[in-house]
Amino acid sequence: MKKEIIVLPGDGVGREVMEAAKTVLRAIADEYDHQFVFHEHEIGGAAIDQYGVPLPEETIDACMHGDAILLGAVGGPKWDHVAPDIRPEKGLLGIRKQLGLYANLRPVKGFKALLQASPLKEEILGESDILIVRELTGGLYFGRPSERRDSGNTVVDTLSYTREEMERIIETGFESAMKRRKKLTSVDKANVLESSRMWREIVEEKAAQYPEVEVEHLLVDAAAMKLITEPSRFDVIVTENLFGDILSDEASVLTGSLGMLPSASLRRDGVGMYEPVHGSAPDIAGKGVANPIGMILSAAMMLRYSFGLEEEAREIERAVDECLEQGYFTPDLFIPGGTPVGTAEMTARIIENVTAKS
Ligand code: NAI
Ligand code: MG
Repeated sequence: MKKEIIVLPGDGVGREVMEAAKTVLRAIADEYDHQFVFHEHEIGGAAIDQYGVPLPEETIDACMHGDAILLGAVGGPKWDHVAPDIRPEKGLLGIRKQLGLYANLRPVKGFKALLQASPLKEEILGESDILIVRELTGGLYFGRPSERRDSGNTVVDTLSYTREEMERIIETGFESAMKRRKKLTSVDKANVLESSRMWREIVEEKAAQYPEVEVEHLLVDAAAMKLITEPSRFDVIVTENLFGDILSDEASVLTGSLGMLPSASLRRDGVGMYEPVHGSAPDIAGKGVANPIGMILSAAMMLRYSFGLEEEAREIERAVDECLEQGYFTPDLFIPGGTPVGTAEMTARIIENVTAKS
């Protein structure tokens, strides 16, 4: 299989973990006889330095024509003083919006080797393995009006969704559950919000089309609590933008480090952008110690969701697991009795496990 991959390394550790992901993808291409062609373009601070804007036309253009997009991270203190409308983060929000990437998938898995890296007790953590499906381009973050009134003494934000926007993300939730353990938790605030009541109606309508999926409704406050007290009860969680933003950061404590978490942002035709959940980590950038796993697992998600290469995706995930089981860890993690390594060695160890298979 030949695929054109648009690579946006961005800033800080984004550039370091991107190198790691490309190395792993090259190893997979060799093992499985695929051809992955990488096309590198700038976004964020690096694009501001080169083009004066965080999202240059040529980057958008490339993203429109590639088979999938990999993104590192954007931002850093160097660009803190630039005008708000050309900040690095604008590049990220801009590309998501321009490509219509409405479905944000964040898997959160408690790795066995990392049980001690999480602040949660081992017996609570169990074998938790959750997929959070978050709506990404609607709701409170995009609703208008959003403004101050009465000389700044009143403020209004707007939570607005169309039926279609809700239907498509809820469908993604059901489809995801069908591919996993067939349990869907829909999170809303239907006791208070009209938008949540419509959300719940749509979940009920869709449930009739997916009789195999066990559906439960949770109010967001209760969901926040259960995520920490009973994480292993969850399979797929589907929710709107704001609730998903908060719950997915909360869920990240299950893995012990931000550096472990991948994400995918998709639209219906399979076009997708894949990026680690973490930022550009200016405090450790340039030191060669960034954890590459979040980026590498994002590349695995790309193989799964944009290219349909399930076996190859699992191979990467298995190699990461194995590497942790062997005790290798970057400084953001801790494995008792294990071996501390930097970005390049962690990547090399993961690749050894990919190629050791045959
Ligand atoms: P951050 O995620 O960059 O860092 C938070 C903490 O986690 C730091 O202590 C960092 O060293 C650590 N960390 C992050 N990634 C790591 C990795 N791969 N390996 C080991 N440790 C890791 O968040 P922060 O510090 O709030 O933001 C720094 C910059 O990144 C800001 O300019 C922010 O706007 C930007 N940012 C960009 C994001 C993106 O591109 N998607 C997301 C979040 C922040
Ligand atoms: Mg967030």
